[in-house]
Amino acid sequence: MTDPSDRLKELQEAGLRAISAAASESDLLDAKGKYFGKKGAVSEILKTVAYLPAEEKKRIGGAANEARGALEAAFNARLDEIRERERLAREGSGLLDVTLPGRSASVGHRHPVSRTLSDIVSVFQRLGFSVRLGPEIEKDYYNFEALNIPKDHPARDMQDTFYMDWPEMDLVLRTHTSPIQIRTMEGMRPPVRVIAPGAVYRCDSDVTHSPMFHQVEGFAVDRSVTMADLKGLLTEFCGMMFGPGLPLRFRPSFFPFTEPSAEVDIRCVICRGAGCRVCKDSGWLEILGCGMIDPSVFGFVGYDPEEYTGFAFGMGVERIAMLRHGINDIRLFFENDIRFISQF
Ligand code: PHE
Repeated sequence: MTDPSDRLKELQEAGLRAISAAASESDLLDAKGKYFGKKGAVSEILKTVAYLPAEEKKRIGGAANEARGALEAAFNARLDEIRERERLAREGSGLLDVTLPGRSASVGHRHPVSRTLSDIVSVFQRLGFSVRLGPEIEKDYYNFEALNIPKDHPARDMQDTFYMDWPEMDLVLRTHTSPIQIRTMEGMRPPVRVIAPGAVYRCDSDVTHSPMFHQVEGFAVDRSVTMADLKGLLTEFCGMMFGPGLPLRFRPSFFPFTEPSAEVDIRCVICRGAGCRVCKDSGWLEILGCGMIDPSVFGFVGYDPEEYTGFAFGMGVERIAMLRHGINDIRLFFENDIRFISQF
């Protein structure tokens, strides 16, 4: 009969060969089960050790433990190797490119229209105006009637809009921020000094018109407010917005709710008056409409036109943002192309 210690040597060698030949974790577990697991060959020998005489017990027991220790160590080393190889296979070539730039979190910013809108509002806040808002779905009465634009009046054609499909409610998407004049004056007595920003809607769409755009309305009512106050205020505003000393001019115009009415042009910020495509060679850019509030509008809100006078103005925010940034197509603001938006 072979000596158990020789048998152990054979088992150890065979076990080590099986371990190093193992290509996967399951091969490795098979080898363990066969040679040194609970029911493996080495363990079987260890079980018989108890029946041996004391000296043999020591010799064979020691040899068996040694064999098992060697197999276990080889098993663990091979297991690490196999796991590492699998990890590399899973994660790609295993070559780490340390020159790849890191992925930084990109920081967003406000939309150029929102920025321009809040810049406009804050200029007027510094000049003593407070902010009022109104609904975007507006009563025909506030959007037209009370602004001296009766039903069927041709002035309505200037601001064709989207009518809501409930005729009995007489609702429209507001075409301008001017209805906030009426809502404000209904609720307070002069002195009034208000700035009213917001989205407005018109049936219009081309490179300079969008069916949804933004306006900022401003108005002031008090005793002896004059056109000179309006000119002074708007001159101050244009200086703060586009740079001091920028020439501006008032051109006679018409709005049903102001009398007299004017349109305000600034010196072209692109060509400084020399003539270019943006100003259509005129050297001037129109930026807003304004005028003295028509006494008939006061009639709708119960202000006495003999006691009070006021002015109002309204400007398009996108138009001002386009002038500030040299943008030539209003639709770019609303296409949400991040390559465009992130430039501002
Ligand atoms: N609401 C006018 C428009 O949208 C602008 C305006 C406002 C004109 C206030 C005069 C006074 O065209």
